[in-house]
Amino acid sequence: MLKKLEKLEKEALELIKKSHLADDLEKIRIKYLGRKGELSQLAKKLPALSALDKRRVGQALNKTLNTIENKIKKQTIKLVSNNNESELDQDEPALAINNFGHLHLITQAIEEISLIFEKIGFNRVRYPEVDWDWFAFEALNMPKDHPARDEWETLFIDLPKDSKMGKAVLTPHTSNGQVREMLRKNSQTPIRMINIGKCYRRQQDVTHTAMFHQFEGLVIDKHVNIQHLKGTLDHFAKKYYGPSAKSRIRPFMFKFTEPSFEVDFSCTHCAGAGCRFCKSGWHEVGGAGMVHPNVLKAGGIDPDKYTGFAFGWGVERVFTLKPGLELDDIRPFYGSNLEFLSNF
Ligand code: FA5
Repeated sequence: MLKKLEKLEKEALELIKKSHLADDLEKIRIKYLGRKGELSQLAKKLPALSALDKRRVGQALNKTLNTIENKIKKQTIKLVSNNNESELDQDEPALAINNFGHLHLITQAIEEISLIFEKIGFNRVRYPEVDWDWFAFEALNMPKDHPARDEWETLFIDLPKDSKMGKAVLTPHTSNGQVREMLRKNSQTPIRMINIGKCYRRQQDVTHTAMFHQFEGLVIDKHVNIQHLKGTLDHFAKKYYGPSAKSRIRPFMFKFTEPSFEVDFSCTHCAGAGCRFCKSGWHEVGGAGMVHPNVLKAGGIDPDKYTGFAFGWGVERVFTLKPGLELDDIRPFYGSNLEFLSNF
Protein backbone atom coordinates (compact mmCIF):
# COMPACT_ATOMS: atom_id res chain seq x y z
CA MET A 1 0.00 0.00 0.00
CA LEU A 2 2.90 2.32 0.69
CA LYS A 3 4.17 1.79 -2.84
CA LYS A 4 0.71 2.53 -4.26
CA LEU A 5 0.58 5.69 -2.16
CA GLU A 6 3.97 6.80 -3.40
CA LYS A 7 2.87 6.24 -7.00
CA LEU A 8 -0.38 8.20 -6.49
CA GLU A 9 1.49 11.12 -4.94
CA LYS A 10 4.01 11.30 -7.77
CA GLU A 11 1.24 11.07 -10.37
CA ALA A 12 -0.84 13.81 -8.67
CA LEU A 13 2.13 16.18 -8.34
CA GLU A 14 2.98 15.74 -12.02
CA LEU A 15 -0.60 16.54 -13.05
CA ILE A 16 -0.72 19.60 -10.78
CA LYS A 17 2.52 20.92 -12.20
CA LYS A 18 1.16 20.67 -15.75
CA SER A 19 -2.19 22.33 -14.91
CA HIS A 20 -2.83 25.81 -16.31
CA LEU A 21 -6.48 26.16 -15.40
CA ALA A 22 -8.19 26.39 -12.03
CA ASP A 23 -10.79 23.90 -13.31
CA ASP A 24 -8.09 21.28 -13.92
CA LEU A 25 -6.78 21.71 -10.40
CA GLU A 26 -10.28 21.20 -9.02
CA LYS A 27 -10.62 17.99 -11.04
CA ILE A 28 -7.28 16.76 -9.61
CA ARG A 29 -8.42 17.63 -6.09
CA ILE A 30 -11.61 15.61 -6.56
CA LYS A 31 -9.74 12.69 -8.16
CA TYR A 32 -7.19 12.30 -5.35
CA LEU A 33 -8.63 14.01 -2.28
CA GLY A 34 -12.39 13.85 -2.88
CA ARG A 35 -14.80 11.76 -0.76
CA LYS A 36 -14.66 8.97 -3.33
CA GLY A 37 -11.12 9.80 -4.49
CA GLU A 38 -7.96 7.67 -4.61
CA LEU A 39 -6.81 8.43 -1.04
CA SER A 40 -10.27 7.72 0.43
CA GLN A 41 -10.30 4.37 -1.38
CA LEU A 42 -6.95 3.47 0.18
CA ALA A 43 -8.08 4.70 3.62
CA LYS A 44 -11.02 2.28 3.45
CA LYS A 45 -8.51 -0.58 3.44
CA LEU A 46 -6.84 0.47 6.70
CA PRO A 47 -9.08 -1.55 9.08
CA ALA A 48 -7.88 -4.79 7.44
CA LEU A 49 -4.22 -4.05 8.29
CA SER A 50 -2.27 -5.02 11.39
CA ALA A 51 -2.00 -2.40 14.12
CA LEU A 52 1.60 -1.60 13.15
CA ASP A 53 0.85 -1.23 9.39
CA LYS A 54 -2.34 0.67 10.17
CA ARG A 55 -0.21 3.30 11.94
CA ARG A 56 2.51 3.40 9.24
CA VAL A 57 0.07 3.56 6.29
CA GLY A 58 -2.22 6.01 8.16
CA GLN A 59 0.70 8.42 8.71
CA ALA A 60 1.82 8.07 5.07
CA LEU A 61 -1.75 8.74 3.88
CA ASN A 62 -1.92 11.96 5.90
CA LYS A 63 1.45 13.08 4.60
CA THR A 64 0.45 12.45 0.96
CA LEU A 65 -2.89 14.23 1.50
CA ASN A 66 -1.12 17.31 2.92
CA THR A 67 1.50 17.31 0.16
CA ILE A 68 -1.12 17.16 -2.63
CA GLU A 69 -3.31 19.77 -0.91
CA ASN A 70 -0.40 22.22 -0.48
CA LYS A 71 0.78 21.75 -4.02
CA ILE A 72 -2.73 22.50 -5.35
CA LYS A 73 -2.86 25.70 -3.23
CA LYS A 74 0.52 26.89 -4.48
CA GLN A 75 -0.33 26.17 -8.09
CA THR A 76 -3.65 28.04 -7.71
CA ILE A 77 -1.85 31.14 -6.38
CA LYS A 78 0.65 30.94 -9.23
CA LEU A 79 -2.14 30.74 -11.82
CA VAL A 80 -4.02 33.71 -10.34
CA SER A 81 -0.95 35.97 -10.26
CA ASN A 82 0.08 34.92 -13.77
CA ASN A 83 -3.40 35.68 -15.05
CA ASN A 84 -3.32 39.12 -13.41
CA GLU A 85 0.02 39.81 -14.98
CA SER A 86 -1.22 38.86 -18.40
CA GLU A 87 -4.21 41.21 -17.95
CA LEU A 88 -1.94 44.13 -17.06
CA ASP A 89 -1.48 46.38 -20.07
CA GLN A 90 1.90 47.94 -19.49
CA ASP A 91 1.33 50.57 -22.18
CA GLU A 92 -1.85 51.90 -20.58
CA PRO A 93 -1.33 55.46 -19.17
CA ALA A 94 -1.13 55.57 -15.36
CA LEU A 95 -4.24 56.59 -13.44
CA ALA A 96 -4.22 60.28 -12.53
CA ILE A 97 -3.48 60.62 -8.84
CA ASN A 98 -5.89 63.27 -7.61
CA ASN A 99 -5.35 62.93 -3.90
CA PHE A 100 -2.03 64.77 -3.58
CA GLY A 101 -1.99 67.04 -0.55
CA HIS A 102 -1.51 70.78 -0.96
CA LEU A 103 -1.20 73.85 1.20
CA HIS A 104 -4.42 74.99 2.83
CA LEU A 105 -6.12 77.86 0.99
CA ILE A 106 -5.44 80.26 3.87
CA THR A 107 -1.75 79.25 3.99
CA GLN A 108 -1.59 79.99 0.25
CA ALA A 109 -3.28 83.37 0.84
CA ILE A 110 -0.81 84.18 3.64
CA GLU A 111 2.15 83.37 1.35
CA GLU A 112 0.76 85.62 -1.39
CA ILE A 113 -0.01 88.50 1.00
CA SER A 114 3.46 88.30 2.63
CA LEU A 115 5.17 88.42 -0.73
CA ILE A 116 3.28 91.55 -1.80
CA PHE A 117 4.39 93.40 1.33
CA GLU A 118 7.91 91.94 1.45
CA LYS A 119 8.49 93.25 -2.08
CA ILE A 120 7.87 96.81 -0.88
CA GLY A 121 10.19 96.53 2.11
CA PHE A 122 7.94 95.16 4.87
CA ASN A 123 9.51 92.70 7.27
CA ARG A 124 7.37 89.61 8.02
CA VAL A 125 7.08 88.78 11.73
CA ARG A 126 4.93 86.62 13.99
CA TYR A 127 4.05 87.28 17.60
CA PRO A 128 2.56 85.05 20.32
CA GLU A 129 -0.98 83.78 19.97
CA VAL A 130 -1.23 83.63 23.75
CA ASP A 131 -0.22 87.10 24.85
CA TRP A 132 -0.60 89.47 27.74
CA ASP A 133 -3.50 91.85 28.10
CA TRP A 134 -0.92 94.65 28.10
CA PHE A 135 0.16 94.02 24.47
CA ALA A 136 -3.37 93.19 23.26
CA PHE A 137 -5.09 96.18 24.90
CA GLU A 138 -3.38 98.36 27.46
CA ALA A 139 -0.33 99.36 25.39
CA LEU A 140 -2.79 100.09 22.57
CA ASN A 141 -4.38 102.92 24.53
CA MET A 142 -7.22 100.78 25.88
CA PRO A 143 -6.99 100.96 29.67
CA LYS A 144 -8.56 98.25 31.86
CA ASP A 145 -12.37 98.27 31.84
CA HIS A 146 -12.49 100.55 28.79
CA PRO A 147 -15.71 99.74 26.87
CA ALA A 148 -13.84 99.66 23.51
CA ARG A 149 -12.37 96.29 24.58
CA ASP A 150 -15.82 94.70 24.30
CA GLU A 151 -15.52 94.84 20.51
CA TRP A 152 -12.85 92.12 20.64
CA GLU A 153 -14.93 89.44 22.43
CA THR A 154 -11.76 88.08 23.98
CA LEU A 155 -11.01 84.57 25.23
CA PHE A 156 -8.95 84.58 28.43
CA ILE A 157 -6.38 81.99 29.49
CA ASP A 158 -6.70 80.51 32.93
CA LEU A 159 -3.25 81.62 34.17
CA PRO A 160 -2.25 83.71 37.19
CA LYS A 161 -2.39 87.43 36.44
CA ASP A 162 0.93 89.24 35.98
CA SER A 163 1.22 92.42 38.07
CA LYS A 164 2.33 94.58 35.08
CA MET A 165 1.09 92.59 32.05
CA GLY A 166 -2.33 91.63 33.44
CA LYS A 167 -4.22 88.53 32.27
CA ALA A 168 -3.09 86.14 29.52
CA VAL A 169 -5.40 86.20 26.48
CA LEU A 170 -5.77 84.43 23.16
CA THR A 171 -4.84 87.35 20.90
CA PRO A 172 -8.08 88.79 19.47
CA HIS A 173 -6.15 90.77 16.81
CA THR A 174 -2.63 91.08 15.39
CA SER A 175 -2.37 94.61 16.81
CA ASN A 176 -0.63 93.01 19.82
CA GLY A 177 2.39 92.96 17.47
CA GLN A 178 2.57 96.77 17.19
CA VAL A 179 4.26 97.54 20.51
CA ARG A 180 6.07 94.18 20.48
CA GLU A 181 7.71 95.19 17.18
CA MET A 182 8.68 98.64 18.50
CA LEU A 183 10.31 96.97 21.53
CA ARG A 184 11.98 94.27 19.40
CA LYS A 185 13.57 97.05 17.35
CA ASN A 186 14.72 98.78 20.58
CA SER A 187 12.43 101.69 19.67
CA GLN A 188 14.57 102.39 16.59
CA THR A 189 13.02 103.51 13.30
CA PRO A 190 12.25 102.91 10.49
CA ILE A 191 9.79 100.13 11.23
CA ARG A 192 8.05 98.31 8.39
CA MET A 193 6.30 95.30 9.84
CA ILE A 194 3.82 92.81 8.40
CA ASN A 195 2.56 90.60 11.21
CA ILE A 196 0.40 87.70 10.07
CA GLY A 197 -1.06 85.38 12.64
CA LYS A 198 -3.97 83.56 14.19
CA CYS A 199 -6.56 85.47 16.16
CA TYR A 200 -9.35 84.24 18.40
CA ARG A 201 -12.72 85.70 19.35
CA ARG A 202 -15.97 84.39 20.75
CA GLN A 203 -17.73 84.70 17.40
CA GLN A 204 -19.22 82.31 14.87
CA ASP A 205 -21.38 83.11 11.83
CA VAL A 206 -20.99 83.20 8.03
CA THR A 207 -18.27 85.88 8.11
CA HIS A 208 -16.79 85.14 11.56
CA THR A 209 -15.01 82.10 12.96
CA ALA A 210 -13.65 81.63 16.49
CA MET A 211 -10.14 81.22 15.01
CA PHE A 212 -9.20 83.35 12.03
CA HIS A 213 -6.16 85.19 10.65
CA GLN A 214 -5.27 88.84 10.41
CA PHE A 215 -2.41 90.67 8.79
CA GLU A 216 -1.18 93.80 10.44
CA GLY A 217 0.95 96.43 8.78
CA LEU A 218 2.92 98.96 10.79
CA VAL A 219 5.16 101.68 9.37
CA ILE A 220 6.93 104.20 11.62
CA ASP A 221 9.40 106.81 10.51
CA LYS A 222 9.80 110.58 10.23
CA HIS A 223 7.08 112.34 8.18
CA VAL A 224 4.87 109.28 7.63
CA ASN A 225 1.36 110.47 6.77
CA ILE A 226 -2.05 109.31 5.55
CA GLN A 227 -0.96 109.49 1.91
CA HIS A 228 1.59 106.76 2.60
CA LEU A 229 -1.17 104.67 4.18
CA LYS A 230 -3.53 105.23 1.25
CA GLY A 231 -0.75 104.46 -1.27
CA THR A 232 -0.01 101.18 0.54
CA LEU A 233 -3.70 100.18 0.53
CA ASP A 234 -4.00 100.88 -3.20
CA HIS A 235 -0.79 99.01 -3.93
CA PHE A 236 -2.08 95.94 -2.08
CA ALA A 237 -5.51 96.12 -3.77
CA LYS A 238 -3.98 96.20 -7.25
CA LYS A 239 -1.42 93.47 -6.60
CA TYR A 240 -3.86 91.12 -4.88
CA TYR A 241 -7.03 91.71 -6.92
CA GLY A 242 -5.79 93.11 -10.23
CA PRO A 243 -4.92 96.51 -11.75
CA SER A 244 -8.47 97.88 -11.74
CA ALA A 245 -9.00 97.31 -7.99
CA LYS A 246 -9.29 100.37 -5.75
CA SER A 247 -9.28 101.05 -2.01
CA ARG A 248 -11.14 103.66 -0.01
CA ILE A 249 -11.01 104.76 3.62
CA ARG A 250 -13.95 105.87 5.76
CA PRO A 251 -13.73 107.62 9.15
CA PHE A 252 -13.99 105.22 12.09
CA MET A 253 -12.86 104.90 15.70
CA PHE A 254 -10.09 102.72 17.10
CA LYS A 255 -8.45 103.69 20.38
CA PHE A 256 -4.97 102.90 19.02
CA THR A 257 -5.09 105.04 15.87
CA GLU A 258 -5.95 108.70 15.41
CA PRO A 259 -7.44 109.41 12.95
CA SER A 260 -8.91 105.95 12.34
CA PHE A 261 -10.52 104.47 9.24
CA GLU A 262 -12.39 101.51 7.97
CA VAL A 263 -10.87 100.20 4.76
CA ASP A 264 -12.92 99.00 1.78
CA PHE A 265 -11.82 97.40 -1.49
CA SER A 266 -13.84 97.74 -4.69
CA CYS A 267 -15.88 94.63 -5.55
CA THR A 268 -14.01 92.46 -8.07
CA HIS A 269 -17.23 90.85 -9.33
CA CYS A 270 -18.91 94.04 -10.55
CA ALA A 271 -15.88 96.41 -10.67
CA GLY A 272 -17.53 98.60 -8.05
CA ALA A 273 -20.87 98.97 -9.89
CA GLY A 274 -22.89 97.18 -7.19
CA CYS A 275 -24.03 93.54 -7.38
CA ARG A 276 -25.76 90.77 -5.41
CA PHE A 277 -22.46 89.97 -3.74
CA CYS A 278 -21.36 93.46 -2.59
CA LYS A 279 -24.63 95.48 -2.72
CA SER A 280 -22.73 98.84 -2.64
CA GLY A 281 -19.77 98.16 -4.96
CA TRP A 282 -17.39 97.95 -1.96
CA HIS A 283 -16.32 95.38 0.63
CA GLU A 284 -15.04 96.26 4.09
CA VAL A 285 -11.86 94.35 4.98
CA GLY A 286 -10.69 95.86 8.27
CA GLY A 287 -9.30 98.91 10.01
CA ALA A 288 -6.41 101.34 9.65
CA GLY A 289 -5.18 104.68 10.89
CA MET A 290 -2.29 106.82 12.10
CA VAL A 291 -0.63 105.28 15.16
CA HIS A 292 -1.85 107.01 18.34
CA PRO A 293 0.89 108.97 20.21
CA ASN A 294 0.23 106.91 23.36
CA VAL A 295 0.99 103.71 21.43
CA LEU A 296 4.26 105.15 20.13
CA LYS A 297 5.13 106.10 23.72
CA ALA A 298 4.36 102.57 24.96
CA GLY A 299 6.89 101.33 22.38
CA GLY A 300 9.49 103.90 23.53
CA ILE A 301 9.17 106.08 20.39
CA ASP A 302 8.93 109.86 20.64
CA PRO A 303 5.60 110.94 19.04
CA ASP A 304 6.93 114.48 18.55
CA LYS A 305 9.60 113.19 16.18
CA TYR A 306 8.01 110.15 14.57
CA THR A 307 4.67 109.22 13.08
CA GLY A 308 3.33 105.99 11.72
CA PHE A 309 0.39 104.21 10.16
CA ALA A 310 -1.09 100.81 10.92
CA PHE A 311 -3.72 98.57 9.35
CA GLY A 312 -5.22 95.19 10.29
CA TRP A 313 -7.37 93.06 7.99
CA GLY A 314 -8.83 89.57 7.97
CA VAL A 315 -6.98 87.08 5.73
CA GLU A 316 -10.16 85.00 5.24
CA ARG A 317 -12.04 88.19 4.40
CA VAL A 318 -9.65 89.45 1.73
CA PHE A 319 -9.39 85.95 0.26
CA THR A 320 -13.16 85.62 -0.23
CA LEU A 321 -13.12 88.78 -2.37
CA LYS A 322 -10.73 87.33 -4.97
CA PRO A 323 -12.16 87.54 -8.52
CA GLY A 324 -14.05 84.40 -9.48
CA LEU A 325 -14.65 83.16 -5.94
CA GLU A 326 -18.15 83.96 -4.81
CA LEU A 327 -17.62 82.76 -1.26
CA ASP A 328 -20.06 84.19 1.24
CA ASP A 329 -19.33 81.76 4.09
CA ILE A 330 -15.85 81.36 5.60
CA ARG A 331 -16.71 78.48 7.95
CA PRO A 332 -16.00 75.72 5.36
CA PHE A 333 -12.35 76.92 5.31
CA TYR A 334 -11.96 75.19 8.64
CA GLY A 335 -14.28 72.24 8.00
CA SER A 336 -13.19 68.82 6.79
CA ASN A 337 -15.00 68.76 3.44
CA LEU A 338 -12.11 67.79 1.16
CA GLU A 339 -14.25 68.22 -1.94
CA PHE A 340 -14.50 71.93 -1.07
CA LEU A 341 -10.91 72.38 0.17
CA SER A 342 -9.28 70.63 -2.79
CA ASN A 343 -10.74 73.28 -5.13
CA PHE A 344 -8.10 75.78 -4.03
C1 FA5 B 1 -9.20 95.08 14.44
O1 FA5 B 1 -9.00 93.95 14.83
C2 FA5 B 1 -8.10 96.11 14.53
N1 FA5 B 1 -7.02 95.60 15.28
C3 FA5 B 1 -7.66 96.50 13.11
C4 FA5 B 1 -6.73 97.68 13.08
C5 FA5 B 1 -5.36 97.48 13.05
C6 FA5 B 1 -7.24 98.97 13.07
C7 FA5 B 1 -4.51 98.56 13.00
C8 FA5 B 1 -6.39 100.05 13.04
C9 FA5 B 1 -5.01 99.84 12.98
P1 FA5 B 1 -11.61 94.61 13.58
O2 FA5 B 1 -12.12 94.09 14.85
O3 FA5 B 1 -12.52 95.42 12.76
O4 FA5 B 1 -10.28 95.50 13.79
O5 FA5 B 1 -11.08 93.40 12.70
C10 FA5 B 1 -10.43 93.64 11.47
C11 FA5 B 1 -10.86 92.58 10.44
O6 FA5 B 1 -10.56 91.29 10.93
C12 FA5 B 1 -12.37 92.54 10.19
O7 FA5 B 1 -12.77 93.53 9.30
C13 FA5 B 1 -12.51 91.16 9.58
O8 FA5 B 1 -12.05 91.19 8.23
C14 FA5 B 1 -11.51 90.37 10.40
N2 FA5 B 1 -12.19 89.67 11.50
C15 FA5 B 1 -12.51 90.14 12.73
N3 FA5 B 1 -13.12 89.21 13.47
C16 FA5 B 1 -13.18 88.09 12.70
C17 FA5 B 1 -13.70 86.76 12.90
N4 FA5 B 1 -14.23 86.36 14.06
N5 FA5 B 1 -13.60 85.87 11.87
C18 FA5 B 1 -13.04 86.25 10.69
N6 FA5 B 1 -12.53 87.47 10.45
C19 FA5 B 1 -12.60 88.40 11.44
